[in-house]
Amino acid sequence: MTERIVLAYSGGLDTSVAIGWIGEATGAEVIAVAVDVGQGGESLETIRQRALGCGAVEAYVADASDEFANEYCVPTLKANALYQGHYPLVSAISRPVIVKHLVKAAREFGASTVAHGCTGKGNDQVRFEVGIQTLGPDLKCIAPVRDLALTRDKAIAFAEDRGLPIETTKKNPYSIDQNVWGRAVETGYLEDIWNAPTKDIYDYTAAPEFPPAPDEVTISFEAGVPVAIDGVKVTPLQAIKELNRRAGAQGVGRIDVVEDRLVGIKSREIYEAPGAMALITAHKHLEDITIEREQARFKATVGQRWAELVYDGQWFSPLKRSLDAFIEDTQRYVSGDIRMVLHGGQAIVNGRRSETSLYDFGLATYDTGDTFDQSMARGFIELWGMSAKVASGRDIRVAGK
Ligand code: ARG
Repeated sequence: MTERIVLAYSGGLDTSVAIGWIGEATGAEVIAVAVDVGQGGESLETIRQRALGCGAVEAYVADASDEFANEYCVPTLKANALYQGHYPLVSAISRPVIVKHLVKAAREFGASTVAHGCTGKGNDQVRFEVGIQTLGPDLKCIAPVRDLALTRDKAIAFAEDRGLPIETTKKNPYSIDQNVWGRAVETGYLEDIWNAPTKDIYDYTAAPEFPPAPDEVTISFEAGVPVAIDGVKVTPLQAIKELNRRAGAQGVGRIDVVEDRLVGIKSREIYEAPGAMALITAHKHLEDITIEREQARFKATVGQRWAELVYDGQWFSPLKRSLDAFIEDTQRYVSGDIRMVLHGGQAIVNGRRSETSLYDFGLATYDTGDTFDQSMARGFIELWGMSAKVASGRDIRVAGK
């Protein structure tokens, strides 16, 4: 039987050419796999037809947008995950869901190998292949751009030569990856890290310098999951989309960073994640009133580690799973409403309420109704400082010798 290869297919030039390129280089039949993670653009049917037109023997298309929102974006939100304090893991969390569908398609169509369009310099090759190794240990991996010398120039020549149903003229100087959680733009002019991004780079966000009137929004959460916006029930996918629209109109969630790739390269990336950043801000503020102090402090460390693991392609790893269990446990009381104003590139919280809040007005107030016994503070401070005081006494003693 002819060998079969499933290819992660975007519908763009490189993966369209990869179908025939892989076929000619390996003699295998290629099955194109397109996964909708809320990236917008062309319909799955258009993409399916193009895959078949480019020589795929089968096309597997999956609308995974709700799955992506529920099982990938929501955990990222619960973790308040920001890699290096900035990046909400837009591309990093889409790879594992695509991997799931690649493995499913490989089983369905009897493929032995999985192919993807990544280069050999980035994180995504690692995320794809580590994911494949974990979910389908018997499957082999191949990357035509990295392993079969499929360069951009050769791709254009191949497409023109074979008359593939794909445009080869449109020159986009940027490499873009997008889904409902956000959008990532790199390369070209941005590789000079002193160059400011030009206006044309942005798509999910309007310029924050010229915002429309402020937009006040109330986001309701239940156990860390967004469940309503302005009192209207929403699914996580709807919440992200609605906030992409409203926070995006205010220019919220533009990020310009130089980040540390797993392969050791520092690289410049522009992100737009209006919905994600508005949601993370709201969620964090709700945690501030519903999670106990020590648990909250520890959770911040866990969230950072979680972000690093996910960035580094360890979505399906045991440590990531254990951290998920911890994070899930912390979310039990993260229920309530956060009111925030979206304006001029910022999402600023100005109100919060929760039936599971730990905020105690009686303890906090400086006015009448104070229930806090201030006389307890002296003894507490004495003991709290005792250990450092004893140590500093020793320092003085030793220095005096
Ligand atoms: N640097 C980001 C990451 O590794 C995004 C990569 C996505 N690719 C792109 N063409 N911008 O997660």
